[in-house]
Amino acid sequence: MNKSEKKNNIMLIGFMGAGKSAVAQGMNRLYGMEVAEMDSLIEEKEGMTVNDIFAARGEGYFRDCETALLRELAGRSGLVVSCGGGAVLRPENVALMKESGLVVLLTARPETIYQRVKDSRDRPILNGNMSPAYISQLIEKRREPYSRAADITIETDGKTIEQVCRELGEKAGCSEMTRQEVFPI
Ligand code: S3P
Repeated sequence: MNKSEKKNNIMLIGFMGAGKSAVAQGMNRLYGMEVAEMDSLIEEKEGMTVNDIFAARGEGYFRDCETALLRELAGRSGLVVSCGGGAVLRPENVALMKESGLVVLLTARPETIYQRVKDSRDRPILNGNMSPAYISQLIEKRREPYSRAADITIETDGKTIEQVCRELGEKAGCSEMTRQEVFPI
């Protein structure tokens, strides 16, 4: 694919609790980008929660759903996509993300991640493993696939959603590709 065919989507990647969903919403409010929340879209299509898909069909099936959805999203433009935290684990998915647009890695320290996700029961990967030590170890294991996939990286520790979105908007040149509507988040 040559450069002019590349779509202008923003693909948000990163560990669970890195802020992908919140930043996607912020990009919608600040720049009018359309949000695609991968987990929710898969839940809608399958008619089940992510927890239930893992339990009834297994992780492999869920990963297939992610690949099929990324293929679909790669044909669209002007989206900010909140990718599931494990979507980068398949090289095929990373290729689809790159085809879609700019791949943006959001990072946070393990303790920050733990504080953000500790009360949630919606993530099968963490259910039964909810501890800073487990999170830290899994982040370490995924460090390489995340950094290999990323075009740019934004640290989120100590920043508001709005600050992260404005930093991303600047780096991605969002004012050019979208309507700019500013209001407090
Ligand atoms: C997963 C992350 C989740 C969801 C599923 C698996 C992972 O998405 O796709 O529970 O393997 O990291 P979020 O990163 O949006 O929580």
